[in-house]
Amino acid sequence: MKLIIDTDPGIDDAMAIAYAAAAPEIDLIGLTTIFGNTHVHQSSRNARYLLHRLGLDLPVAEGAHLPYGADTYQPSDFVHGPEGFGDLTDIPQIGANHDLSAAEYLAETARQHKGELVVCAIGPLTNIADAMRLDPEFAGNLKRLVIMGGAVYCPGNITAQAEANIYHDALAADEVFATPPETVLVGLDVTLKTLYAPGDFEALASISPDMGGFLRQISQFYLNFYKQAGGLDGCGLHDSTAVIACTHEPMFETVETGIRVDRHGDGMGATRPDTSRPPVRVCTGVDGAGVVRLFTDRVTTLR
Ligand code: RIB
Ligand code: CA
Repeated sequence: MKLIIDTDPGIDDAMAIAYAAAAPEIDLIGLTTIFGNTHVHQSSRNARYLLHRLGLDLPVAEGAHLPYGADTYQPSDFVHGPEGFGDLTDIPQIGANHDLSAAEYLAETARQHKGELVVCAIGPLTNIADAMRLDPEFAGNLKRLVIMGGAVYCPGNITAQAEANIYHDALAADEVFATPPETVLVGLDVTLKTLYAPGDFEALASISPDMGGFLRQISQFYLNFYKQAGGLDGCGLHDSTAVIACTHEPMFETVETGIRVDRHGDGMGATRPDTSRPPVRVCTGVDGAGVVRLFTDRVTTLR
């Protein structure tokens, strides 16, 4: 399966990209970057650094640096750290971004691989909305869009009602759901059932000392946040769960409904069922232990 990941690395993003690199079913053909866990230029630098550590020579096309309707953006650096990789700073610049913007690269690649390309969006949806505005055939050219985002039948994580990726660009998200491609929504409804505990990172690092050791190193900051903010003994495999949903649909239960996003106000970013909109598949259940096991089994094949 041909895959592009639209990403704001970000610690769980890094885990998801490592999983994609290790998964035999996935032909990862490129990354597009977005603001979110960190500023977009840091997302791009982190993505290129990670691909270098994974030994992958793939394009990284940089995307939006601001949400629709905003003239500034400030990451919540207490979640993923000052530069997106926990306590790790001064991350080297490896290589350069692709000449095309994220939206241009997404639209061109979807056209080139018509009906075959899956895009997994694990950050705010600005680049996806931009690609739909740029090329009206983009949505139809995709095989599927898999989104890590939303909290449809459960509380949010950045506000009581909203999940962070949707919240960080509610306007773009609502535009995507108004005329969605074939879409699967992997929200907090399932991604908080796939917690990765400190002991899981220890096991990862002992079997895969380079990549597993790196993921353990950058995840300490993230684990501390989950412990302090939520009293949880583990962090959500949010983004890896979405990538796994691209190839392992039987591990998920879904319902079909249209989705509307609150664009403003106290509920901004809330993802609400709306039968007047084209249906998407919303994940409501998951084999959480199976996702955690699959993640570990695959990532420990990396050095
Ligand atoms: O709410 C979780 C999502 O927000 C994940 O994609 C995480 O990386 C952050 O971007
Ligand atoms: Ca992310």
